[in-house]
Amino acid sequence: MLKKSVPEGTASRTMFFSSILWLAIGTTLGFVTSLKLAYPDILSGTPYLNFGHIRPAHVMTVAFMWISMAFGAAVLYMTPLLCGNKLWSEKLGVFNAWMWNLGGFVADVSLDLGFESGREYSDFIWPIDVYVLSFILIPLAANLYMTVLNRRVKGIYPTLWIFMGCFLYLPTTFALSQSVEVFHVTGLNEALLTWWSGHNLFGLWITPMSMAVAYYMIPKLTGNPLYSHKLAHLNFWSNFAFYSTPGAHHLMGAPIPEWLKSFSSVSGVLILVPSMAFLANALLTMYGKWRLFVEVPALRWVTTGTLFAIPLNFQGGFQQTRAINWYIHGTHWVVAHAHLGILGFSTFIEIGGTYYGVERLLRKKFNPTLELWHYWLTAIGFIIFWTSLTAAGLIQAAAKVYEVPYIDSVVATHPYMVARSWGGFLIITGQWIFVYNAYRTAMSPATVPVSPVAQPARS
Ligand code: HEM
Ligand code: HEM
Repeated sequence: MLKKSVPEGTASRTMFFSSILWLAIGTTLGFVTSLKLAYPDILSGTPYLNFGHIRPAHVMTVAFMWISMAFGAAVLYMTPLLCGNKLWSEKLGVFNAWMWNLGGFVADVSLDLGFESGREYSDFIWPIDVYVLSFILIPLAANLYMTVLNRRVKGIYPTLWIFMGCFLYLPTTFALSQSVEVFHVTGLNEALLTWWSGHNLFGLWITPMSMAVAYYMIPKLTGNPLYSHKLAHLNFWSNFAFYSTPGAHHLMGAPIPEWLKSFSSVSGVLILVPSMAFLANALLTMYGKWRLFVEVPALRWVTTGTLFAIPLNFQGGFQQTRAINWYIHGTHWVVAHAHLGILGFSTFIEIGGTYYGVERLLRKKFNPTLELWHYWLTAIGFIIFWTSLTAAGLIQAAAKVYEVPYIDSVVATHPYMVARSWGGFLIITGQWIFVYNAYRTAMSPATVPVSPVAQPARS
């Protein structure tokens, strides 16, 4: 059995399809969480459907099972193409994909049963963290590095630089953040380590990996060469230099040293360097090809995600100044920003990458009408979601300034919680349509001539 060779592309295909299913499950858990804020008495009576159980299950499912697994699929799909050879070990990739699914299932059940560390974005208990490192991150890193080492092309395209950097940083961050549990770190030190790792999850994983996928997809789909490799290098180095320092800007309301608050606030502005380098590079690569935004579904998703990075980064830079952070911290504004980053920017880019990868791996086209429904339900749902949460956040902040009793701000923001839930309902409907479309495509006999091995555009 072990001697049997596994067909090329099996590993990335397994991860792509699994991640699509986890996207639908993860967003549905988000919808259930939101119902608890819109209709507090709904689904009461069992602790397993309490806000405190479902919320971490939602966040960890979308972060580790959708976002990270879709990145895993992109790594397994794009790395061999960029290296001009086969994946180092297809068998390891398939093993990796199934261990990831198994781990995700166990993690979700354990979170829902209440086994959780209590630290946001590091919510898994330590045995699950050890599993994630040993069976998910390390095997994927091994496949990536070995494929790059055995490459047949000269030079390394920026997408691969970023993949390789991220696979150094994520396992390191992940392992170090476990020191909190292993060494029983408590109090402010625990908070600082927790937010250092939470911040690195966004800054040294989700953000650069999304950029890497966009750097691959935009030149491929437009036929334009990447606008500037120098800007991509600036993007790469400044991302790792500047994104790793301001983790404490998540703790501006906590009694951490004043100098640390000022340092993280000022150093966080430098995150605008990689962000602007990416935006300029990605959007200038689109030059003269914007009509393809309408014609090519995968490109529509990727460029929409890229465009969401504009308000996201300006909002981030603005909200981390000490005065403004005091205003919006602890309000729905932050949840709106979080979704603009992980849903608006990253998820849109990854959905584009998933449409692209699956079509080429299967040599079959997705149904375009269902794809359009998926796009518009997600986009409109997200705009309702984001606008209502941002407005609710501003109401809460004003209530704080004018010392309005907290319960009055809860009543005032209730209509916005209802609007967020129904915006979320549109989003989850879109994701289940995606699942159906993927299933339908996989089962359809028709094949189209989509080349799985074309080389990336180069400047
Ligand atoms: C891929 C899509 C999604 C991603 C990546 C995502 C990610 C996240 C993240 C990172 C948080 C934590 C935010 C924070 O603590 O500031 C969160 C919380 C939450 N999400 Fe999502 N989410 C997604 C889709 C949804 C959808 C469709 C809904 C449905 C309404 C939803 C509802 C919620 C709710 C209610 C919370 C808790 C907010 C709170 O504590 O006040 N999410 N999500
Ligand atoms: C210039 C870029 C950015 C800056 C300066 C920035 C700044 C911040 C700050 C200061 C907070 C904490 C707000 C508070 O709780 O008071 C925050 C929260 C957050 N940011 Fe950003 N951000 C940026 C871009 C991004 C990107 C690109 C992503 C994701 C891809 C992202 C994801 C998040 C998430 C998920 C949270 C919520 C954390 C929580 O659960 O409390 N941000 N950001």
